[in-house]
Amino acid sequence: MPTDRRSGCPFDPPAELTAPDDEPVRRMRYADGHLGWLVTGHAAARAVLADPRFSSRYELLHLPIPMEGAPEQIPPAPVGDMTGLDAPEHTRYRRLLTGKFTVRRMRALTRRIEEFTAGCLEAMEQAGPPADLVEVFARPVPALVICELLGVPYADRERFQSDVAVLFDQRADAAAKGAAQEALLRYVGALVAAKRAEPTDDLLSDLTSTDLTDEELAGIGGLLLAAGLDTTANMLGLGTFALLSHPGQLAALRADPGLAGQAVEELLRYLSVADPLPRSALEDVEVEGRLIRAGETVTVSVQAVNRDPHRFPDPDRFDIGRGAAGHLAFGHGAHQCLGQQLARVEMTVAFPALFARFPTLRLAVPPGEVPLRDRANIYGVTALPVTWGKEGTG
Ligand code: HEM
Repeated sequence: MPTDRRSGCPFDPPAELTAPDDEPVRRMRYADGHLGWLVTGHAAARAVLADPRFSSRYELLHLPIPMEGAPEQIPPAPVGDMTGLDAPEHTRYRRLLTGKFTVRRMRALTRRIEEFTAGCLEAMEQAGPPADLVEVFARPVPALVICELLGVPYADRERFQSDVAVLFDQRADAAAKGAAQEALLRYVGALVAAKRAEPTDDLLSDLTSTDLTDEELAGIGGLLLAAGLDTTANMLGLGTFALLSHPGQLAALRADPGLAGQAVEELLRYLSVADPLPRSALEDVEVEGRLIRAGETVTVSVQAVNRDPHRFPDPDRFDIGRGAAGHLAFGHGAHQCLGQQLARVEMTVAFPALFARFPTLRLAVPPGEVPLRDRANIYGVTALPVTWGKEGTG
């Protein structure tokens, strides 16, 4: 499966994915030789992701990209990891968690997000230019937020951040992924035991009062930690790169910070960092005139779908005024992102605050030298060297 965005613009999908052959559902050869499908059309993607006849169970999937040391069959999701489950097991976890992402909790978090953002920007200014924006801003803000939400000590981040990075790294072999998964579960498991003994005011403590077992709680905690750490961080890093690369759009956002909400939606569409989304057909299903047979794997390419010209005219143009609602950057259907409301608040607070605090923010290296995080399930930049102040002084 073509994944390397570097061939042209760092923000655009590989040309093979968006080739104008107008085939929204097409055949694709998987790493193990399986002949499955690739979905690049918006309507077809919605149909697949909303249809319970397409399963999310890992053990039914074929991998689109080779993984060294991968067993013939992918093992099932660890206990509590609902991304790899179908109804009714998935529904049970989903209901329990949705009830915990309350408006009250999100409101309280918004104030903390503003404080965390201001704190990171203050530290960045104090340290002076240049800076790696990923290190000082894009990674710490979401990490502080997810730690606060779950009740995970931020000081422990070195212990879980590298494990999460391995989990999302398509280059990591199966053994490394297994070890990272185990370490993450061990870490969260110990935390869950501590919360049971002495509950605090956070989501993990809250969940200990449900009928979830410790093993389930560790799985859910590990999933939330991983999902909350990496996704928003990459949106903030890559999103800043995209805005700095489109000065007209950035000027519009600076002039009217009220545009932040729609700028965030367009960034989500344009960058589609969480990609791809695989499913397996449980029975024969017809999608857009193609008959997908039971047992075949279907991979939804979010980046291609969000550039479908039938849904988004002139899709390769980054335009914060376009009204990007309807993008599938958070997925669609039963597994649609549980943290999307939180991620939106984080980005809507963080981008305007960054550009207000640093009116002259710019890249400190030529755009072609920004290191990209390719071959990862969450796309982004691994570093973003920036500077500010008068031209030539930073
Ligand atoms: C699911 C993207 C932030 C928690 C998903 C899915 C996508 C996604 C595409 C669907 C996966 C599938 O269908 O297989 C993103 C993006 C984010 C983001 C682009 C940031 C901009 C977050 C945050 C959290 C979170 C901050 C945690 C607080 C989850 C969880 C699921 C999920 C728990 C699984 C839901 C389920 O299986 O029912 N996310 N996410 N995400 N996301 Fe996010």
